[in-house]
This record gives sequence, C-alpha cells and structure tokens, in this order.
Amino acid sequence: MSGRLIAQILVSVGTVVGRAFVAAYKQAAANAAQGGGAAGRAGTKASAADALTRKTGLTMDEACQILNVTREAELAEVAKHYDHLFKVNDSSAGGSFYLQSKVVRAKERFELERAEQLKEKAEAEAPKNDQQQPPPNGSA
Ligand SMILES: *[C@@H]1O[C@H](CO)[C@@H](O)[C@H](O)[C@H]1NC(C)=O
Ligand SMILES: *[C@@H]1O[C@H](CO)[C@@H](O)[C@H](O)[C@H]1NC(C)=O
Repeated sequence: MSGRLIAQILVSVGTVVGRAFVAAYKQAAANAAQGGGAAGRAGTKASAADALTRKTGLTMDEACQILNVTREAELAEVAKHYDHLFKVNDSSAGGSFYLQSKVVRAKERFELERAEQLKEKAEAEAPKNDQQQPPPNGSA
C-alpha cells in the first residue's frame, strides 16, 4: 500500500522533471537549428558567434536577458550585474545552483562575444597592403 504510494509519487516527480527537461531540450534544439541556419548564410562572422553559443550553451540574446544588459553594455556594467545575480542566486542565499551557473555562463558568453567583436574590429581597421597596386590591365 505505502509502497504503491511511494511509487506513484516517484512517477509524478519523474513526470515533472521529465517535462522540464524536454522543454529545455526543445528550446536548445530550436536555438541550435536557428544558429546553424544563420551561420550557413552569413559565413565566418556568424559561425564565430555560433561557436560561442555552442561553447557556453547560450545565445548572446539569452546572455543579455539573464544579465539584464544590452549588447552594447560596458563590461564594467556587465560585471556589476553579474556580481549581483551571482550573489542573490547563491545557494547560501536561498538561490539555485542551476540559475547561478546560468549567470556564470551568461557572463562568459558576453565577454567572449565582446572579445570577438574587438578582434573583428581590429582586423577591419588593419592597414591593407593591396590597395596601392595598379589594376591588372593598366598598360592598355
Ligand atoms: C537569479 O538569476 C536569474 C538569472 O539567471 C535572475 O533572473 C533572478 O532574478 C536571480 N534570482 C534572484 C533571487 O534575484
Ligand atoms: C534591469 O535593468 C533595468 C535598467 O537598468 C532596471 O530598471 C530593471 O530593474 C532591471 N531588472 C531586473 C530584473 O533587475
């Protein structure tokens, strides 16, 4: 009798956890599909962002939402929000480890994206050596 009750409780707990897992998985799969398509169309820039998304498990939009910042936010502001969220989500403050690790991932994602942007900017501004060359058929 009580064994049956316990079994029922275990089954319903399993169902709730299972549903949450399936929802999270579907969301991740949808993100992956989206990111892959965009990367295929837009080339290396998108694939760099895509690689960061795979690495951290978060898109830039998700990272910004979690940290409550815009894409253009200063790193100092991001760090401030991160510190706050990390603290209030600490398990000693009644927070959840899951959310806390999302906060950590979000900061990582943001910083990697910013580093990538700076790298691209530096490359775009680097002097080009081929600009002074005459056209191939200039002698005609
Ligand atoms: C914990 O972090 C999430 C972001 O992952 C944030 O939305 C939430 O407000 C934080 N928890 C508390 C208690 O502030
Ligand atoms: C997010 O940031 C805005 C602007 O800084 C602030 O007004 C708002 O309270 C923040 N939301 C959370 C959940 O911290």
